[in-house]
Amino acid sequence: MPRAINRRLFLGRTAGVGVGALFARAVGLEARSNPGGIGRVPILVTSHSNQTGQRAAEQAWELLSAGGSALDAVELAANVIEVDPEDTSVGYGGLPNENGVVQLDASVMDGATYNAGAVASLEGIKNPSSVARLVMERTDHVLMVGPGALALAKSFGFEEEDLMTERSRARWLEWRENRSESDDWGPPDHLKDRAEARIGGEPAFHYGTVNVLAVDASGDVAGITTTSGLSWKIDGRVGDSPIIGAGLYVDNDVGAAGATGRGEDVIKSCASYFMVERMRAGRTPQQACEDALEMIRRRYERLNLDFMPGEKFVALNRDGDYGCAWSYESRGLPQMTARDSGGLTVYEGVQFGA
Ligand code: GLY
Repeated sequence: MPRAINRRLFLGRTAGVGVGALFARAVGLEARSNPGGIGRVPILVTSHSNQTGQRAAEQAWELLSAGGSALDAVELAANVIEVDPEDTSVGYGGLPNENGVVQLDASVMDGATYNAGAVASLEGIKNPSSVARLVMERTDHVLMVGPGALALAKSFGFEEEDLMTERSRARWLEWRENRSESDDWGPPDHLKDRAEARIGGEPAFHYGTVNVLAVDASGDVAGITTTSGLSWKIDGRVGDSPIIGAGLYVDNDVGAAGATGRGEDVIKSCASYFMVERMRAGRTPQQACEDALEMIRRRYERLNLDFMPGEKFVALNRDGDYGCAWSYESRGLPQMTARDSGGLTVYEGVQFGA
């Protein structure tokens, strides 16, 4: 959900600093107070901190701690979250598009093989991340969409099912009965109005998604991003989650990063690739997440000072350090779950702009 950054707060935070600090801010090197999470390899993290996210991390840890691969661990954890009927942002029970059809997006990337796979607008399959893995491992392609992706899944034995639950159908019916000017259609110059119209309002849209990132005992890194995408989206809309470099990026030499939130801005900013490159340049995962939000804020600065899309970013480096940050103003601190040999940690990151 786009929101206004409190510009006064942001300026207040940076007012009165010297030229060196201003330069540091200009290149995204501003010192920040939260050092980030310190973990140990092997490790798995997820952007979900709810009970299902924690259960997923625990189950994946069983595999990872027994010498399993990062790739198998992230798939296992993602699958647990995808089938949770209570989670309206991912897989089964995810909120549908404007026509009442659940269209799922997912990607997987394997640092060990520098390979990736993704599916977009996939209907009827509870575990899109596993289909993304099929694209990666059983085809010479990276991204498959819609009916082609469904045919691929079915050819490997995946069952086609109705992904709507009573809960998601009730929410969709309620939205359809109350739909208004806050749908996704707009004239060519809608961005400015859209930003203003949404400031301070209750979210009419829902962008939830999950990222799962891991480093295994061999030092290999893998990640998955999976989502039902923007609720009530226009039929065929694809978000950032299946776009390698946007919703997910993995590099065995560096680590991994993933995004949730308004996918349109994550796609335009290549946010996950940016975070991995920031870590390559020496930034901690926590700093890399904040750098990506700052980069997006700056891109909108010349258009609308008060506009900032709602995003949550998570990152993990190959040493096991991790972090997260978000731009949601009214939701407190962002959380993520980490599981390593020290146990399960629910880590609180940084609220950008606060
Ligand atoms: N980040 C999920 C989406 O925009 O679809």
